[in-house]
Amino acid sequence: MACHAVIPAAGIGQRMGETKPKQYLSILGCTLLEHSLRPLLACPALDKIVVVLQPDDPHVDALPLLRDERVLRAAGGSERSDSVLGGLALLQGIASDDDWVLVHDAARPCLAAQDLERLLVTVVDSGVGGLLAEPVRDTVKRADERALVTGTLERSGLWRAQTPQMFRLGQLRTALDKARQERTTVTDEAMAMEQAGYPVQLVEGSPTNIKVTVPDDLLLAQFYLSRPLAEKTL
Ligand code: C5P
Repeated sequence: MACHAVIPAAGIGQRMGETKPKQYLSILGCTLLEHSLRPLLACPALDKIVVVLQPDDPHVDALPLLRDERVLRAAGGSERSDSVLGGLALLQGIASDDDWVLVHDAARPCLAAQDLERLLVTVVDSGVGGLLAEPVRDTVKRADERALVTGTLERSGLWRAQTPQMFRLGQLRTALDKARQERTTVTDEAMAMEQAGYPVQLVEGSPTNIKVTVPDDLLLAQFYLSRPLAEKTL
């Protein structure tokens, strides 16, 4: 049974306030997209890697890593889940529904090889799809529209979802399709799988696997990426 990857990279990254989409911002001489793709290309378990792009993407051809023969390109859609479905549709022609597919955001450039390995081994061994996640360490408040606190959530049992998220290709496509038909907004693959009734396994990942969303995240990502390899553990 094979394992493939989909990298949604078709967002516009509005919250960064930059002229380019955030996946094309540069850290240490490489774009976020290249940093996010590199650990997947270095993983021998992965067969095809589909990078999902805006249909008229003017930046991608300048990136040498994208010329690797395992990398395929698909067109994205208006929501992240539409883009993931675009990537899965491309895989449908060349992969089996029982194959595993790993979805990893182009905006998460600091994925450590050990975390990727832990996710792969855990999911393949158990047969239950899962995702990297980290336990919530802060106290989390719920508030109303005036930012007045309406409650404090019980912290134990709360996790922050990361990517990669790894599921069977056919089940994930069906779950995302179902969410689309029901017009449910799903912000990650796990949410679609949960709603479709599948068990989903959390696999603890490093807190350094951040998603770049606002300008300060770039500085943090640069710091993590410039650390020696030996320090990049859980
Ligand atoms: O916007 P957000 O940070 O949630 O995006 C997460 C990832 O999903 C990014 O890599 C972004 O490029 C991708 N995305 C996409 N298609 C969209 C929206 C986001 O591929 N329509």
